[in-house]
Amino acid sequence: MKRFVYLNNKFINFKTAKISIEDRGFQFADSVYEVIAFKEDNLIDINFHLKRLKFSLKSISIRYKFTNSSIIKIFNKLIKMNKKNIGLLYLQISRGVQSRSHIYKNNIKPTIVIYILEKKFNPNIKNIKCVSAITYPDLRWKKRDIKSVSLLPNIIAAKEAGKQKAYEAILIENGYVTEGTASNIWIVKNNYLITHPSNSDILKGITRDSIIKIIKNNNLKFKQKKFKKELLYNSDEVFLTSSSSMVMPINKIDNKIISNGKIGKITYKLAKLYNLKIN
Ligand code: PDD
Repeated sequence: MKRFVYLNNKFINFKTAKISIEDRGFQFADSVYEVIAFKEDNLIDINFHLKRLKFSLKSISIRYKFTNSSIIKIFNKLIKMNKKNIGLLYLQISRGVQSRSHIYKNNIKPTIVIYILEKKFNPNIKNIKCVSAITYPDLRWKKRDIKSVSLLPNIIAAKEAGKQKAYEAILIENGYVTEGTASNIWIVKNNYLITHPSNSDILKGITRDSIIKIIKNNNLKFKQKKFKKELLYNSDEVFLTSSSSMVMPINKIDNKIISNGKIGKITYKLAKLYNLKIN
């Protein structure tokens, strides 16, 4: 099946899509991105993704102007052209092409790429699988609220998780959990749902925000609070959230078994409620 991508105002064949070797996204990771789940024309939480994209662009002064309706049209056209009814949209905007210099020029034209990533979501909530995680030092910079493609510390940690046959690496800074390499981390302790506060130490996940809404609508107990690795190990339930993994229960962290190796009650309830978005 032919794959199409959107590159700088054109829909073109995946194989012929090319970017300059002096694109600043390639040379400096001077670039931001979004990953958006879709099913047919349902782009999950699209307005929140576009709001965060605007925040990321503004934070590093990349001037790429778009309206939500114009970019949503591009997404829908791309989905139709690729004949996919479920998956992930990947969008990346870099500052653009310039002869190599750390100091960027103000007037360069941003590069925009959008394409589709294959992804099957877990439609059957009854068979939701648990995954394992490792812990790993958080080696990142101090502006993690910007969704930047500068992901080297994340991929080093993720690779270590992969080597240990774990699904995710949970990042630890000064003894505290920040987030996963590509997800937000949640615990349940004594019926309280706890996750890291949204500040520049983590990416404010769109799925995280959706779960907070679900928690509030269902009158569950919740606090945004930093928590230590020891509490992570001793939690009643642990799960992660992201646009690509949705609500994913974690039943083992390093050598500690969580929740007797099974999905916890509260995690199950949230996974079920969240899954309504994709069904
Ligand atoms: N990652 N934290 C980090 C560091 C992330 O990279 C992500 C998402 C999240 C969860 O955010 P959201 O709920 O908006 O997807 C948290 C995407 C999926 C990725 O890089 O593939």
